[in-house]
Amino acid sequence: MAYSDKVLDHYNNPRNVGALDKSSDEVGTGLVGAPECGDVMRLQIRVNPETQVIEEAKFRTFGCGSAIASSSLATEWVKGKTVDEALGIKNTDIVKELALPPVKIHCSVLAEDAIRAAIGDWKKKNHVSEAVEVA
Ligand code: FES
Ligand code: FES
Repeated sequence: MAYSDKVLDHYNNPRNVGALDKSSDEVGTGLVGAPECGDVMRLQIRVNPETQVIEEAKFRTFGCGSAIASSSLATEWVKGKTVDEALGIKNTDIVKELALPPVKIHCSVLAEDAIRAAIGDWKKKNHVSEAVEVA
């Protein structure tokens, strides 16, 4: 199966590979696995405690090219967003941006799950409740 140019670009030059200090209260860690293929993705964010803006994001993915590209893109997209804005990132946005074929859609779901897990971890650490609806 042919990968799209954007997948290849992220695969060949993954952005933000690495790790952040898990023990810091400013860091949220999401570790998720795909039951479909056994691939594993870890995504971490560092959040400014005052503004709740995600200032740094890192990932490490043990998986296929689409999973690596999805997580690379996810780290780019969450940076500069508040945690609640980042929760608005949908796997369908990733599918569209990377032109993923149907058999690779679960790779993008993995990235969305990883974002949610990382934000959930950060919120739990910082006793931040779920988003309140703004009237
Ligand atoms: Fe998971 Fe592609 S099946 S690596
Ligand atoms: Fe399973 Fe990509 S994450 S094939």
